[in-house]
This record gives sequence, structure tokens and C-alpha cells, in this order.
Amino acid sequence: MTPPISPQTLTFWRRGHAVTLDNVPADRTLLEVLREDLHCTGTKEGCGEGDCGACTVVLGEAVGGKLQYKAINSCIRLAHSVQGLAVWTTEDLVSAKGELHPAQEAMVHCHGSQCGFCTPGFVMSLFGMYQNTGGGQGIDRAQAQVELSGNLCRCTGYRPIFDAAQQMGSLPLPAGCEVNETATVAALKQLPPAKAGNYLRPTTLTRLLQARSAHPEAQVVAGCTDVGLWVTKMHKRFAQVLDVTAAEELRRVETYPHHIAIGAAVSLHEAYAALVSERPPLKTFAQRFAGLPVRNSGTLGGNVANGSPIGDSMPLLIALGASVVLMRWDKKRQAVAHRELKLEDLYTGYRTNVMKADELLCWIKVPRPVDTEFLRVYKISKRFDDDISAVCLAIRLTLEEGKVSTISIGAGGVAATPVRARQTEAALLGQAWSADTVMAAMAALRAEFQPISDMRASAAYRQTVLGNLLQRFWLESQGLQAINLESVSMEDLA
Ligand code: FES
Ligand code: FES
Repeated sequence: MTPPISPQTLTFWRRGHAVTLDNVPADRTLLEVLREDLHCTGTKEGCGEGDCGACTVVLGEAVGGKLQYKAINSCIRLAHSVQGLAVWTTEDLVSAKGELHPAQEAMVHCHGSQCGFCTPGFVMSLFGMYQNTGGGQGIDRAQAQVELSGNLCRCTGYRPIFDAAQQMGSLPLPAGCEVNETATVAALKQLPPAKAGNYLRPTTLTRLLQARSAHPEAQVVAGCTDVGLWVTKMHKRFAQVLDVTAAEELRRVETYPHHIAIGAAVSLHEAYAALVSERPPLKTFAQRFAGLPVRNSGTLGGNVANGSPIGDSMPLLIALGASVVLMRWDKKRQAVAHRELKLEDLYTGYRTNVMKADELLCWIKVPRPVDTEFLRVYKISKRFDDDISAVCLAIRLTLEEGKVSTISIGAGGVAATPVRARQTEAALLGQAWSADTVMAAMAALRAEFQPISDMRASAAYRQTVLGNLLQRFWLESQGLQAINLESVSMEDLA
């Protein structure tokens, strides 16, 4: 039986005013609040699962006295997660006289809209770029392509929209369209904190762990980029939600001599920025993880704790030798307790893991690179951008005197959990790094897992491609970079 859903009050900042809504259930989405409660239907619902970007809105958060802007998908974001934040929708950009914001005007100038259904979402992604680039300055086509990769258009074609992204910075900003950041930051400080209720968003780690201990049945959420689909597609209801994203200690990346520690509340966008700064070749993979609105909302900790067998982070993190820190509130000692385990040991089966009911995944520790490491991660999906992997394979190798001295291989899409290819690693370790060794390891890798057939790929395809990716890794290690299509840009091919 579905437990009763007790609503609580929600307050956020919009159009220069505090918006307060009573009786908002813990599992109501932001899109439902905007369209159904506030009757602002400019924000559209397309897929309802974070794929198309029609529902994109921009959130503003005061961080260190400044406003941070993030385009997110409102369809899968729970409304209470914007408590105390500023929200912009496409209706909010025009001046009081009805003059268009440059993000909107540029779409008109460049003929960036036909049926118009996707347009409010594109405009909001453009608005996020505009605010984050000091008024749309210096945006090139490559940046536009990356930052608009979470917005799909079925009829206009993307060239005019990329043109709009590059031109909006040269258009005048009508009076009344500007964001008064100082006033907004001050206003956000005055908003009331969330009251304790059915949507809990504690602001410290200790309070978060205490809340978990008190509510082991609560649905834990971070960016909600998967749990949101359980609401919109599976019609699940949550009587109690525990949101980890406000816990201050978990919102940062810490750097140590031998590892970086990524807090569970760090967004995918920021977490991957930290990983890329340590290992620049990961840049393309980071951008292909998902469109920017998903990477702005989702967290690395959420991706790992969720444990989807086709989640892209885990194969990479397994190959990098990452571990996870699980924490809980020890009631007897009245103190925080923790344990650490290798990431591949977290999972016990399809979306099940070793975490106890009162534990939360709080940190991901990633070893820092060594000079001799050769690392590649391959994502195989039907679409290059904004898609889910059929197979993901990450390989990290070091050699000593021509022999494999360390090897770690993480794989996704080939088993019920993200997995480490231990048998293949054993076939490689200590062997000469040669074509013959790799051929034998390819056979071992194809035999190590029994993937399933589903809408993304057949089992036979997955097994074949696994071995092929290892062969690609070998060829790349021999200097054949062009074997990897990601080394070629669309501009190179034009
Ligand atoms: Fe498609 Fe939200 S409606 S991403
Ligand atoms: Fe029709 Fe983009 S203008 S979907």
C-alpha cells in the first residue's frame, strides 16, 4: 500500500519575489509546480525523463557571495530541491515592456525556431550560458555544441541555434532584462530555511547522517536524474525523501598527495571537471556522459550509489582504482562512523549493494595519476551526445620493461552490475605488451561476461565490441590515435 504523502511548504525566488507554496508533496516535480501550480506553461514537457531539454530552466544559487547559474531539467527535479534558490523560466527573461532578452532575440535573428516546442528549453540553456560568460562573450561553436547537447530539436536543425549562441553576446540587453546579482544574493539569504517535513535536506554531514538513522526507509536523492524517472515513468510515490545535496562538507572536492576525494553532493559537471584536470584525455568522455542539464543536477555520488549497470562513471572509477567511503551515525557512541571499500566491492546484484539501512555513500576517493599510466575509456552508444551506453569499457595500464606491471579494467553494460574484468586482468598481468598477448586477452574479455540483449544492443554485439575495444586500446597504445573517432572533430571532416 502506498504510504500517505504529507506535503510541506516550498519557498524559492522568482521574478524578484519570494514564491511560497503550501502543501507541496515531497515527490512533486519542479515542472509540475511551474506548469500546474503556477500556471507558467512556457516551460514544456517533452520526454519527462531528462533526455530532450524542453523543460530546461535555470537555477541560481548563492555560493561564496556570488550567484551560480545552472541549467537543469525541471521534469525530473523534485520541487523541494529548489528551496532557497532562484528560478528562471523562459517567461522571466523578457523586460516589463515585453522586449526580448538577447538569448531570445538571437533565436529570432538566426531563425532558430520552427515548431517552437524545443525553443523555451534552448532559450534557457542559452540564458545559462549568457549569465556564465559575462553576457554571452567569447562563445564559439564548440562551446555552444557542448553546452546545448542536452537540448534536442526535431525540426529546425542545430546550425541556426549554434549561431544564436554565438551572436547573443553582441545584442543589446534591454533595460529590465539584467539580473541584479547583488540584490538576488541578498534576497536568497532572507528566504526561510526549509522546515523539517517529508523532504529533508540537512545542511551538515552530521545532521544528514542523523536524519538517515532516523529515516532508514526514506528515499535518498541527490540530483534526482534517475530517481526522477521513477516518479515520472514508473509513478512511484515517496512518503519521505532525504536529499544529500545541501550537506556542506559533501559539496567539495578535496585534493591530497595520493588521491582526490569527491563529496557525494558534487555535481557530475564539477566532479568530471576535477577528474579531467587530473587526466585531460577524459574531456570528451566527460562531455558525453550526458547533456549539461543532467550533469548540472546529477552527482557522481548519486551515479555510483544508484549502481546502474549502464552508468558511465563506474567503469572509469573501477579502472582508476577508486574507493567509496560509507558513513553512518553511531547512536551508541553519538559520533560519525565510517568504512571504506573498493568501488567494485560495493555492488551485490542488479541495483543492490552492501550499504546498510543507516549508511550513506559520502565520498569517492580517486587515486591521482602516475606519469607512466596509459588510460582510455570508451563509450559505445547509438547517439554520440546525450545517450546511454550500450557498453562502456575503461582500461588503465602501466608497463615496466615492456611488460604489463599494472592493469585495471572496468566495464559497464555487460553484467547486472558495473564490473571489474579480473580474469582479463589476470591474463595480461606480467605478460609482454604485444599483439599476441592482446589477442589472448580479447578472447578472455569476451568470455568473462554474459551480457543480455536489450533495446540498446544484443548480447552478441556487446561481447564482440568488448574485445574490439581492447584491440582499439592496444592500437592506441602503439600510437594509432586516429583509430579512435573521438580524435577527429566534425570540423576536421567537413
Ligand atoms: Fe524532456 Fe524534461 S521533458 S528533458
Ligand atoms: Fe520544432 Fe525544435 S523547433 S522541435
